[in-house]
Amino acid sequence: MPTQPLRVVVLISGHGSNLQVFIDHQSTGRLPIDIRSVISSRADAYGLVRAKHAGIEHETLLPRDFASRERYDLALRDRINRYRADLVILAGFMRILTPVFLAPYEGRVINIHPSLLPALRGMHTHERALREGLREHGCSVHYVTSALDAGPVIVQARVPVQPEDCVESLQRRVQQQEYRIYPLAVRWIAEGQIEMRDHTVWRQGRRQDRPVVVTADDDLECL
Ligand code: GAR
Repeated sequence: MPTQPLRVVVLISGHGSNLQVFIDHQSTGRLPIDIRSVISSRADAYGLVRAKHAGIEHETLLPRDFASRERYDLALRDRINRYRADLVILAGFMRILTPVFLAPYEGRVINIHPSLLPALRGMHTHERALREGLREHGCSVHYVTSALDAGPVIVQARVPVQPEDCVESLQRRVQQQEYRIYPLAVRWIAEGQIEMRDHTVWRQGRRQDRPVVVTADDDLECL
């Protein structure tokens, strides 16, 4: 098991509640991570305030300051290279990344998406889950590849949709599960339990063809 904490950069665009979970897990020693930097694509992202309060380096990289998506990704890559990041965590980072960034970081970028992938790729997943009358919704942690929300899934949490659910109530329950499974996936990576090879998740040397699936009742400590 690696003895050094995992060097992590977190990319955000907004509220940063998932970032806060990582900050809390780092400060209590529950996760062996060292958040080297937080980078936001928006200047008003509340996650920047969270980083500041935690004494973590943070900066904004605005898309409008770059002539193209590739130029933005090049600048992002240069910033992250400085921190020698072992892992890049997308935590509500609302941009599609191009191969300029992803190729050198292949297998080192993960994302949380609010659906049971491959269902509901893209935006507005809670609205769509309700509109489509789904009985089950949830969230997925996956490796990021250049295909949108289509990288191999590490772990998912199922959330039943209740008849009385509105977008806000469903989102709240899904996010509660995000705060559980995202640190779980990062723990597995920090412990060297999982990696991405050949567009597939490998866990403890074995090909994991299907994601690990949990529910709100499961105890994740023993996974
Ligand atoms: C999270 O719920 C995450 O699932 C979603 O953005 C939210 C960010 O919340 N991500 C996506 O939709 C990515 N496609 P946060 O800023 O409070 O962590």
